[in-house]
Amino acid sequence: MTVRRDAVGNVVGRYAPPGADGLPLVLGSHLDTVPDAGRFDGALGVLAGIAVVERLRSSGEGPESPVEVVGFADEEGARYGVAYLGSAAFAGLFDPSWLDLRDADGVTVAEAIRAAGGDPRDATSAPRPEAAAYLELHIEQGPVLEREGLPVGVVFAIAGQTRATLSLHGRAGHAGTMPMAGRQDALAAAAEIVLAVERVGRDGDGLVATVGSISVEPGAANVVPGEARLSLDVRHPDDGARAAAVAAIRQAAAGITAERRIGLEWVTLQEGGAVEMSVDLRDRLSAAIAAAGHPVRSLVSGAGHDAVVLGRICPAAMLFVRCEGGISHDPRESVAEDDVGVALDVLERTVRGQRAVRRSGWSP
Ligand code: GLV
Ligand code: MN
Ligand code: MN
Repeated sequence: MTVRRDAVGNVVGRYAPPGADGLPLVLGSHLDTVPDAGRFDGALGVLAGIAVVERLRSSGEGPESPVEVVGFADEEGARYGVAYLGSAAFAGLFDPSWLDLRDADGVTVAEAIRAAGGDPRDATSAPRPEAAAYLELHIEQGPVLEREGLPVGVVFAIAGQTRATLSLHGRAGHAGTMPMAGRQDALAAAAEIVLAVERVGRDGDGLVATVGSISVEPGAANVVPGEARLSLDVRHPDDGARAAAVAAIRQAAAGITAERRIGLEWVTLQEGGAVEMSVDLRDRLSAAIAAAGHPVRSLVSGAGHDAVVLGRICPAAMLFVRCEGGISHDPRESVAEDDVGVALDVLERTVRGQRAVRRSGWSP
């Protein structure tokens, strides 16, 4: 493959043997991880793309289309709170305002790109590429395939998600001298909000709602917390249900902070609707699974994936691989080699079935 790296750190390998023609078929997933992650969330899909190219090359047959394997940067949003920064840049959909986002150390996206030798303008100015299709192999990150004894499954749709930051402004003071009555403790308010988020999440069928990080200032044992910042992540396959849950959390947070005389600043970082995967690609993946001798199971993904973004520039679909105990975002993440073998066979068969596409004419 010929390899290039773009401004945000996406790594793209292109395989175009003689005879391959038209728009590229894109395979891939992400190379970044959450803190203290497992080894497979993301990386498996990139390696699978490379393995499929290796199979194509060693067989000397096909494909009809050039194949690009992409290792996307920053899918998780762990550093800046906004997911899909890498795939958005690849797809020509990078929002220029993201360059000003700051990480926990105050480093902006633009500064991080410069520090890595890139030019931030390249992140926002990439033209929207044309692609024949996007296929992503990923671990399931849930228990369904294992429960049903299946090595692989086809993703029907990816749940929508809302990500926000809630900043609480209270009043700091001496922990030994400030009376309990009348305190404006930002962390105590944050704690109540965390429980409200959990309650809303529990009450909604198919809903998940999470506060995954809190920071407190000044952050000392003998100081009443003056400031607190919470992350919020809300997901549901139905966009209306997600919007209602976010509204309920917002209302609860407003009530809690008003009662405690705490200022509340709510910044929505990202809001994306549920995305259905391409029917045609799902059918082709399903046929490949059946040809490999396995039952076809279709699943909804609660996790976000680069396929959400790629689905805005071309038909996109995903193949899930069973993972042990449904565990993910944890070092115990594990897959069986045999299952990966099945998934590679399915992916290879689907790639070989890709006919050359000369002009996408794609509209999501
Ligand atoms: C990515 O793993 C996400 O769903 O947050
Ligand atoms: Mn992940
Ligand atoms: Mn992932």
